[in-house]
Amino acid sequence: MLIRRIKCLRSLGTRYNSSHYVTTPIFYVNAAPHIGHLYSAVIADAHCRYQRLRNPERDVRLCTGTDEHGTKIQQAASLYGVPVAKYCDDISERYRDVFRSASILQDDFIRTTEERHKRAVAHFWRTLHSRGHIYSAAYSGWYCVSDETFLTDSQLRLDESTGTRHSLESGHPVEWTEETNYMFRLSQFQDDVRHWVKQEARIRPAKFEKILLDTLSEPLPDVSVSRPSNRVHWAISVPDDDSQTVYVWLDALVNYLSSVGYPNETFSAHWPPAQQVIGKDILKFHGIYWPAFLLAAGLEPPGQLHVHSHWTVDGQKMSKSKHNVVDPVQAAQQYTMEGLRYFLLREGVAHSDGNYSHVKAQRILNSELADTLGNLLSRACAKSLNPGQIYPSAKPEHLADLLRSLEAAKRLQESLLQLSERCESHYECNHFHLVADTAMAALHAANNFFESSRPWTLKAGAAESNQPRLETIIAMTMDALRLCGIVLQPIIPQLATRLLDKLSVPTAQRGWNYLAESIATNPANLGGSRQLDGHTSALLFQRILGESTAKEEHKPQPAKRSKSKKKERRETMS
Ligand code: MSP
Repeated sequence: MLIRRIKCLRSLGTRYNSSHYVTTPIFYVNAAPHIGHLYSAVIADAHCRYQRLRNPERDVRLCTGTDEHGTKIQQAASLYGVPVAKYCDDISERYRDVFRSASILQDDFIRTTEERHKRAVAHFWRTLHSRGHIYSAAYSGWYCVSDETFLTDSQLRLDESTGTRHSLESGHPVEWTEETNYMFRLSQFQDDVRHWVKQEARIRPAKFEKILLDTLSEPLPDVSVSRPSNRVHWAISVPDDDSQTVYVWLDALVNYLSSVGYPNETFSAHWPPAQQVIGKDILKFHGIYWPAFLLAAGLEPPGQLHVHSHWTVDGQKMSKSKHNVVDPVQAAQQYTMEGLRYFLLREGVAHSDGNYSHVKAQRILNSELADTLGNLLSRACAKSLNPGQIYPSAKPEHLADLLRSLEAAKRLQESLLQLSERCESHYECNHFHLVADTAMAALHAANNFFESSRPWTLKAGAAESNQPRLETIIAMTMDALRLCGIVLQPIIPQLATRLLDKLSVPTAQRGWNYLAESIATNPANLGGSRQLDGHTSALLFQRILGESTAKEEHKPQPAKRSKSKKKERRETMS
């Protein structure tokens, strides 16, 4: 115990590692991807994109993939009358397609049916076994196929009318199971896991740390880590015992190791993961089983678990039976994938469930991406104001005059001065909604500045002497757009790229450090004017037309801030 405690403590120390390894859960292939799945992937992707932007020297690695073994996959395939392997290929490919179209920049897509993964599982099993953490025992209990887990009596709800039992948490039915299994000595890792959970910022948001600590305050039972092959045959065989297959959760968790080459020594260059993104429903597996398995195998547990809550649809849990499962491909036809990414990251908060509704998505995207961001770009690029199609330089005396005489100019400058620091601290906590909020606040300030400075009164045809002031107004506006474009790259990578392309910002100047070089931060060093990119449209995001807004389309669209949940979201738990 003492030796293990020492090892555990050592493994909890922060080891410098230039690699920043991030994972999503691997997705069950029993059904097609929905927006909840995409949400896990988009969070991890935005996190990685920010890390690359902020620390270009760091080796950021994102792994995602599909979880393909177990009874429920077997059942789904037979329901469709398709051979299991083919069924897995098809659904796995759908995940790849959705992630590709949502610009998930993954370094690896792992499937648990791949040979490299099976090798890793066999090695991991043998390691646990040879270290004495696995034993064989007769086991009986309630098994939930949907959740792929045994549940204790206190985790069940009895339906008096039918006499059937269901998981309290997920609502899925359970079945009584009596079999001889291999067991993992989870009970022996209680203190070590608790110690790991309690480390600063290990589990985020903090409410999930509390949930884990509550679970850990009761004695942990040992867990079954195998099933008889004649019951679950679509699984990996236990090494040296064909009569048993590896429990699907042990199989699935090892994907994080197989992706980085385990058991080849090279895996240690990436180990442990810096951050693992998971949904709240799989907290127990990642916050208790996983660190225990790793400690038992002599490996370091992950640096951080980022746990997110769920999406409901019009206030209801998404489920096939309610026919309310939102398909990201269909949603993207309405909003575009960038629009969907923006909505998920803008409206979702980790600590509580988010509600997905068409009305809300339409309102946010129209108000923020079309009106506040897109409209400002169109106005600054309008030929009537900007006939030369340039990103002009600001003229020092006009800039000084605007900042002196125009309240809106001062507010814009203040907002831009805070942009980098604020967004950095929000990104560091995966508070993407607050990054979007901050960028939108800056863009509102830019819209107000643009309106208040009345550039149309200075345009061509008016006195020639107005030109430098007009160019200074456009330069400040474009600078705000450029800075917000840099900041928003992790959230809406394609739109931000188009914005920066239009403004002819060189690719090498889109990193986080370029936020420091702006008119707001350094008015003395303004740079020369440059030509806008004529090949890129200034129409960034088309308003989404729906029944509710069709009539309003003819009215002018003022850039209004979305008030949705703003206050509540500001109070996000860290
Ligand atoms: N295969 C397991 C994970 C194994 S990881 C070693 C699994 N797969 S899943 O397909 O059911 O879920 C994958 C992810 O999608 C989880 O993070 C889960 O929380 C997330 N979501 C599933 N439904 C969701 C919502 N309705 N809303 C948000 N995310 C949800 O669990």
